[in-house]
Amino acid sequence: MRLKGKTALITGSSRGIGREIALRFAREGADVAVNYNGSVEAAEAVAGTIRAEGRRAVVVQADVGRTDECEKLVAEAWQALGPIDILVNNAGMEIRAPFVEVTEADFDAVLGTNLKGTFFTTQAVVRRWLKGERAGRIVNISSVHEELSFPGHATYCAAKGAIRMLTRDLAAELGGHGITVNAIAPGAIATDINRDVTEDPRARAGLLARIPLKRIGTPADVAGIAVLLASDDAAYVTGSTYFVDGGMTWFHEE
Ligand SMILES: NC(=O)c1ccc[n+]([C@@H]2O[C@H](COP(=O)([O-])OP(=O)(O)OC[C@H]3O[C@@H](n4cnc5c(N)ncnc54)[C@H](O)[C@@H]3O)[C@@H](O)[C@H]2O)c1
Repeated sequence: MRLKGKTALITGSSRGIGREIALRFAREGADVAVNYNGSVEAAEAVAGTIRAEGRRAVVVQADVGRTDECEKLVAEAWQALGPIDILVNNAGMEIRAPFVEVTEADFDAVLGTNLKGTFFTTQAVVRRWLKGERAGRIVNISSVHEELSFPGHATYCAAKGAIRMLTRDLAAELGGHGITVNAIAPGAIATDINRDVTEDPRARAGLLARIPLKRIGTPADVAGIAVLLASDDAAYVTGSTYFVDGGMTWFHEE
């Protein structure tokens, strides 16, 4: 077990990639705070599975797009499970819209969840680490779109590109405290966020044609790297993004 005795907070972990990371962390020995925004039933189901593994779990509702709720999330998780060792900033969403039609509400929603949520949840955790002279691990779930353009998704690209630099910058600023900060950039992973593409035969075929490994990824593909980055095996790794994309990012064919 690679995370034995550790405590982790994973944002947006009632479904999709976050859920898989929560379950995998528990199997690796971690106690887990499961954050959700909408469905308490789904979050409780994840927590129930974790408890069945013999680990502790707490469910905390919070909209990470609001700074007061980021603080509340970290306070409640810390109170219930004790000091957090690992934070995974996974909560994310996208809104498809041509650039000229993006509204301020779209911008605030996408940047709020993906970027502001990552920023202020990390701040709430790191403030506690620095106060208690503790070290810890931050893993940000970015996207291949921190590098790759994605027409119709200017807000998402702006948010994930900023997460790439936030990851590098915090690695530099916090490294002296023994805190590591890394990111994972998933490619096409079958979850609710891209069901419109993965379940449409034409769109799916177009996507597969751009993936050298010729399959859509699964949340488990992402969870394995998250365990590695949160474990002692990655003690000397900080400031980098790890692509989990079946080779999609650097694929080009004419
Ligand atoms: N699936 C992919 O292909 C893919 C690719 C690249 C990056 N990602 C990233 O992976 C992460 C997880 O996405 P997913 O694919 O599992 O999609 P998903 O839609 O299944 O999960 C997103 C999770 O974030 C939560 N969430 C959304 N807004 C929130 C908020 N304001 N506060 C708290 N929680 C909130 C949702 O409730 C959900 O649990 C996201 O950051 C996403 O951008 C996914």
